[in-house]
Amino acid sequence: MNRFLSIATAAALCLGAGTAFAQTQGKLKVGFMLPYTGTFAALGTAIENGFRLYADENGGKIGGREIEFVKVDDESEPSKATDNVNKLIKRDNVDVIVGTVHSGVALAMAKAAKESNTLLIVPNAGADAVTGPMCAPNIFRTSFSNWQPAYAMGLVAAEKQKHKTAVTLTWKYAAGDESVRGFKEGFESKGGKVLKELSVPFPNVEFQALLTEIAAMKPDAVYVFFAGGGAVKFVKDYAAAGLKDRIPLYGAGFLTDGTLEAQGEAANGLLTTLHYADDLGNPKDKVFRTNYAKTYKLQPDVYAVQGYDAAQLLATGLAAAKGDFSKRDVVVKAMETAKVDSPRGAFTMSTSHNPIQDIYLRKVEGKVNRNIGLAAKALADPARGCKL
Ligand code: BEZ
Repeated sequence: MNRFLSIATAAALCLGAGTAFAQTQGKLKVGFMLPYTGTFAALGTAIENGFRLYADENGGKIGGREIEFVKVDDESEPSKATDNVNKLIKRDNVDVIVGTVHSGVALAMAKAAKESNTLLIVPNAGADAVTGPMCAPNIFRTSFSNWQPAYAMGLVAAEKQKHKTAVTLTWKYAAGDESVRGFKEGFESKGGKVLKELSVPFPNVEFQALLTEIAAMKPDAVYVFFAGGGAVKFVKDYAAAGLKDRIPLYGAGFLTDGTLEAQGEAANGLLTTLHYADDLGNPKDKVFRTNYAKTYKLQPDVYAVQGYDAAQLLATGLAAAKGDFSKRDVVVKAMETAKVDSPRGAFTMSTSHNPIQDIYLRKVEGKVNRNIGLAAKALADPARGCKL
């Protein structure tokens, strides 16, 4: 009898252990919350492509786990962001959220992720607060803070280009405001003066009146934050208004990343700053660019890199926990201490979970954002307000 009992107990234990094993090794549910429509649609697709490329290169797995993907189109629409992220958290029960592009949407996502303790990896949106006051153990970013490329461009405009005055122009929302603030901090710390801060509502692309105002003000330089479809329109309008050869135009690199085919000659010669360039030529980048082009019949851009690195970072966390996502402390610790072998060059995470990375000065030559030097070495976001 006792023997039967112990056999039954052992069988039950085995069954239990087997279930736990299956749970551990079942598919990890990854929710993409990205823009698939609107002015940032191409950016969302590039991020997903990059993420999937890493999984494809690793037999369809990330950190040894098979992946199930769920997708939500966030439309870069902050007013729908809370509902959208809750579809992934509450309806789909995802393990990890990867998203998004638009800073306003990302702020709502960070709040929901923090409240539900869902692991969130931000593969673009630079909202300073995500790794500032809203920083949390379960929130990581594989892209940049809005401050980073903008601050570096402020230094370049004042120190290297020797400009004394600038006018800024951006979409009026978190990313644009923070980008302008970063530029101004760098520029004015080296003796420059921002004369006026101009803006249009997001995603408006009616620039004519503001270009007329800039022409009348005659600053030494113009600094802008635009990306995706809006960046294409702005660069073309700036050239068509006859300003390109009269007042040098600078931007955070989103101005010319993933946009050069559409911008054509109007972008040629523009200087921007970013944590990626098209000709870095390091071994990781060479393989990445070859595989990306082969898989998608497209050249990769910074958004693809950031998506790829989101997958790499998650893989590092999962591998450390031997694929057991329930060991969240182990996953997080490994992500915090990761050295990500990125196509942009290796980077580490700051204590606020934002990349510490080189910012390149790039020049558009033909259809390429060419690296022409370092604008800032191993630049860390100041992470103002983060208590981790
Ligand atoms: C942002 O909203 O943070 C953003 C959007 C596009 C490119 C870069 C930043």
